[in-house]
Amino acid sequence: MNSPTSPSGPPTPDLWPHVSTPLPGPKSAELFARMDKVAAAPMQDHDEVPFVEVRKEDCLIVDVDGNVFADLVAGWGATPYGATPATVTEAVVAAQRNYGMEITDYVQNDIAIELAEKLVAIAPPGITRVMVSLSGTLAVEAGVKLAREATGRPMILVFHGQYHGEVTYLTASVSTDLAEVNSASSAYVGGLVFAPYPQQFRAPFHRGPGPYDDTLYMDFIEEWLLVHQVEPTQIAGVLIEPVLGEGGIHVPSAAFWERLTAACDRWGWKLILDEVQTGMGRCGTVFAGEHWDLRPDILLLGKGVAAGGQPIAAVMATEEVMGTTDVHGGGTFAWTPAACAGASAGIDVLTNGETLANVARIEETARRILSPLVDEVEQVGDVRMLGAFIGIEFVTDKASIKPAPEFHRVVHQECVNRGVLGVTQLGKWVYRLQPPLTMPIELFEWACETIADVIRDVAANPPPEAPSLLERIAPDGGTRRR
Ligand SMILES: Cc1ncc(COP(=O)(O)O)c(C=O)c1O
Repeated sequence: MNSPTSPSGPPTPDLWPHVSTPLPGPKSAELFARMDKVAAAPMQDHDEVPFVEVRKEDCLIVDVDGNVFADLVAGWGATPYGATPATVTEAVVAAQRNYGMEITDYVQNDIAIELAEKLVAIAPPGITRVMVSLSGTLAVEAGVKLAREATGRPMILVFHGQYHGEVTYLTASVSTDLAEVNSASSAYVGGLVFAPYPQQFRAPFHRGPGPYDDTLYMDFIEEWLLVHQVEPTQIAGVLIEPVLGEGGIHVPSAAFWERLTAACDRWGWKLILDEVQTGMGRCGTVFAGEHWDLRPDILLLGKGVAAGGQPIAAVMATEEVMGTTDVHGGGTFAWTPAACAGASAGIDVLTNGETLANVARIEETARRILSPLVDEVEQVGDVRMLGAFIGIEFVTDKASIKPAPEFHRVVHQECVNRGVLGVTQLGKWVYRLQPPLTMPIELFEWACETIADVIRDVAANPPPEAPSLLERIAPDGGTRRR
């Protein structure tokens, strides 16, 4: 049981993180045993989240044994305003009462029309149209089709380390945050060309710590890929996350974006910006691309657009790309009235002024508490963030900057033991925090201080690492991806 260290203390004693059983607790263990008899193999992996949730209260998760955790996962970004934001929940329930389930792609309704208008109103300049979608994965599929249709070209340029979903063959093939994503299902579709995602901390052809000028990644594209592998005029579009999410929170430089967008202009490549994770306030602005004034041709939204209501995603594009397209992005469950009502209420929360101000407070708190760990702890190689999108990269030592996935695993598990649930995937070495954008700052501060304490404790007795990344320690070989 841990008590809060924040001076402001808990609002009420039972609504503050505390863990009073070993994890999993007895009731969680019983439920896991039942689940393991019927669930598919990947759902039997309980190492990363060793408890069974029974309810959520705003930014806290309560398990069946009464343990309470600070939620730094936020439904993997899909609950940006806490568990059940009042206006979103009310809008969802009211729409469900009034319309029930409806196929918006066929029978259109006023709530969907209002949402489409609101999305176009907040979109980057040049984006004039929106297409219904149900998930980030399906938005990516439609976005790539649109780029190919608009240009009549076959190839898509993608970056290593990105994640775009994994259920479909295309998304598994473009997702390279872990090789297992596509090798598990032999999903290697053609029409793709890859370059490493720009990173300033480590670069693929250098050993040793950066900072690196990340325009060298554009040099690679222009002096190698376009010379040796694919003609620039064969490329339809560039599929890129504005900040690398699952791949470890890498924030490209303004100079990289200038070079990439210049190449798009020169060669007629459509810029397909995947803001499924970075969009809707996560990075401190409505869309992360605003930090560099990016003007995508195609903009993909998911996760946060649902606002904690019902599943929904969107594909947005310029007049040229979407004004006369034959590409169809819908499906039975895309844009149900209840999902549209929740998303529409969510846009009001996002644009109320207070939400983005809180994201700035979250970033400032993380910089103050977590960034100094780079100088203090040998195994903290780098701390990176943009808004409420935060990553801590663990290394064996500062000189070699060899990845330290086992250190990461132990940190994550000890944080959970102390009541903090962050984002991890076994086998990776960047620990991620993506709290609800509205998380009370005293709770986030307490969570950061707890994480910093855990890192110091683990550093005092660091676990052994596997000799190489290919032999990294992942119990049962398991990894989990979103
Ligand atoms: C950048 C990005 N694109 C697409 C997806 C896939 O979204 P979904 O899980 O809703 O299919 C994800 C999921 O994590 C993502 O992070």
